[in-house]
Amino acid sequence: MTLRISVIGTGYLGATHAACMAELGYEVIGLDVNAEKLQALSAGILPFHEPGLPELLREHVASGRLRFTDSYEEVAQHADIHFVTVGTPQRADSQSADMSYVDASVDSLVANISGEALIVGKSTVPVGTARRLSERIEATAKPGSSITLAWNPEFLREGFAVKDTLTPDRLVYGIQDDASLAKLREVYAPILALDTPEVVTDLETSELVKVAANAFLATKISFINAFAEVTENVGGDIKTLADAIGHDARIGRKFLNAGVGFGGGCLPKDIRALQARVSELGLSQTMGFLAEVDQINLRRRDRVVSLASSILGNQLAGKRICVLGVTFKPDSDDVRDSPALDIAVRLYNSGAEVSVYDPEGNKNAAGRFPRLNYVDSWREAAKEADLVLLLTEWNEFRALDPQELGDVVGTRVLIDGRNVLDRPLWREHGWVMTGPGEKFDLPEG
Ligand code: UDX
Repeated sequence: MTLRISVIGTGYLGATHAACMAELGYEVIGLDVNAEKLQALSAGILPFHEPGLPELLREHVASGRLRFTDSYEEVAQHADIHFVTVGTPQRADSQSADMSYVDASVDSLVANISGEALIVGKSTVPVGTARRLSERIEATAKPGSSITLAWNPEFLREGFAVKDTLTPDRLVYGIQDDASLAKLREVYAPILALDTPEVVTDLETSELVKVAANAFLATKISFINAFAEVTENVGGDIKTLADAIGHDARIGRKFLNAGVGFGGGCLPKDIRALQARVSELGLSQTMGFLAEVDQINLRRRDRVVSLASSILGNQLAGKRICVLGVTFKPDSDDVRDSPALDIAVRLYNSGAEVSVYDPEGNKNAAGRFPRLNYVDSWREAAKEADLVLLLTEWNEFRALDPQELGDVVGTRVLIDGRNVLDRPLWREHGWVMTGPGEKFDLPEG
């Protein structure tokens, strides 16, 4: 019999999970409380940018294998496996994660389930959440129902969400009994058949695996960015340094790209939530290094702002700055905690005229900060610019021609915030440029 699955919350994670579950052949229903999002998804339209996902969504909505609702009653009737993929954003008043969406979805599910069901948490949560929810389920489940909770963290990256879901590096299950394990193995059978490593563990470990992975990745980025601060002062080449240490298989080259720092909906808030959680546990010193990781990361933005300012003679009023890239990374339209948007806004607030072009991110950025001048091409953004900032490494920007861009700008000065442009080539075309890890002395005049 075809598995019947529900996915609660249809953001980046949930929409991807729901479409991929349909791709595996299951009958899937996705739930969201946002009417606009539901309307788009039900029409087979993805309300955000994620390569490969629109095709899956369209196909499976058309076939009827994937549908969407706002009714917990319908979800509870349709499925007996419920994946919870709602957000756990940083709270406005502290570093902790806001658990209200997770709690509310589990409560609503439990209030509607009458028979047997498995609830599988996928959201990134503070350790101890699954145990707490499990006790809450036991206390509030309807008489006659039998509900178990498992945790199954998700490691997908934006821009690679479909690939990471269908061919993940590993599957991790935090379980409380063998029946849950059997169910999860049934769901993931097509993926396990690809020899995907499987980690079976307890609830706490499964929650920690996710935050440990993200804390490690964030630390790796800040580690190389800290060395960039050194080479910016003493000279040296940060890319060569990263290549050289990356050859050591114990270190590895990935996530050693110095730049404007990490952003997005995960790494920044996850390292903060982890610190908050261990402090609650009385272990405030244990994750103290993550405060440093966060600080190093935020200093990357300060550096671009002060570099831009000194290049422009510390007089930003009336200066035209062209910002290429506003999302937190390429192949995404996500501007949550984006270093690029933050830098653009800070320069605008200091009096500069800031024109922004991003292949996918303009709309979301304008939703958060409408006052920048958002335009539809790099050419328009660069018109008569006094300074160009490349802040997100879209392929379109990697492929820029120094002569073509040079013909449009007012002055050939560029900060390559992601170290992706060929310095000698651009300098041959008369560009003054610098980037992360580079010692930079302002040219005379
Ligand atoms: C991350 C994790 O990679 C993923 O496993 C988890 O499920 C969610 O969080 P994501 O937020 O999509 O994924 O982005 P990721 O590719 O990890 O990049 C995060 C940030 O780090 C981006 O802003 C990126 O530009 C930056 N980064 C990455 C660097 O500055 N240097 C690097 O070497 C790598």
